[in-house]
Amino acid sequence: MAGRLDGKIAIVTGTATGIGSAIARLFVDEGAKVYATDVKDPGDKLAAALKAHPAALRFAKLDVRSEEGWAAALAACTKAFGAPNVLVNNAGIGSTHKPVHEETVEMMRANFEVNVIGMFLGMKTVIPGMIEMGGGSIVNVASVWGWTGIKNNVAYQTAKAAAVMLSKNAAVTYAPHNIRINCVLPGYVDTPMSRTVTEEDAKMLMEFTPLGRRAEPEEMAPMFVFLASDESSFVAAANFMNDGGMSAL
Ligand SMILES: NC(=O)c1ccc[n+]([C@@H]2O[C@H](COP(=O)([O-])OP(=O)(O)OC[C@H]3O[C@@H](n4cnc5c(N)ncnc54)[C@H](O)[C@@H]3O)[C@@H](O)[C@H]2O)c1
Repeated sequence: MAGRLDGKIAIVTGTATGIGSAIARLFVDEGAKVYATDVKDPGDKLAAALKAHPAALRFAKLDVRSEEGWAAALAACTKAFGAPNVLVNNAGIGSTHKPVHEETVEMMRANFEVNVIGMFLGMKTVIPGMIEMGGGSIVNVASVWGWTGIKNNVAYQTAKAAAVMLSKNAAVTYAPHNIRINCVLPGYVDTPMSRTVTEEDAKMLMEFTPLGRRAEPEEMAPMFVFLASDESSFVAAANFMNDGGMSAL
């Protein structure tokens, strides 16, 4: 049976657990060859998929903050599968829930290093090859918190807001090369990152979400299949809320 991602070669970052793991696994199920990366070792679900799909799924360590690391990942992906025509910049870190006057410069820098510079380096690395091959699809992960304003959490929110504009800037710049760049903004998803919130905050976030619950990472992945595939051939420079309605409030 034909897969929706047959012929696609994807680098995906932050795949050890959570949303990135779900994306890598669904991409392979849909026929893509996936070069999955993370700073951490693969979690259980990705490890099982690596065993089940040795020919279509590879994993390697990549710290998205490292330009040399990105060059090595591109070379290794190209050797294993061919030049990538899809990139998913999913790796990210959260922050403390502090307001401006209490937050540290270190936390601000750390958030911008991973959530913005990491995304910038990913695009910088793959775009020349995509220009050469006549196109590609890049999907960047921001957050609903980089779109709507809430109190505190200043480092994460401002970095994710920068990620939204970084996506839009690159999207309009490279659309003439048929490189479609889009941004996905998840709401509250049950992953290791979001499990750091208190029980009380978890309840509040679910009540605040119009659908009244948090999402499973697997509920995020289908949107990425659509954006990576040729089904979205006219979709560029767009922001996709995947947030149970949260951003409407
Ligand atoms: N979980 C949520 O509620 C939520 C909401 C909105 C946006 N997001 C975004 O979704 C993305 C995925 O997060 P998740 O919720 O699946 O959490 P997660 O912690 O399961 O996944 C994030 C992954 O990024 C990796 N990572 C961190 N720093 C890295 C670095 N320097 N280089 C490479 N990899 C690195 C981590 O090791 C981890 O595996 C993130 O960008 C996050 O900001 C998550």
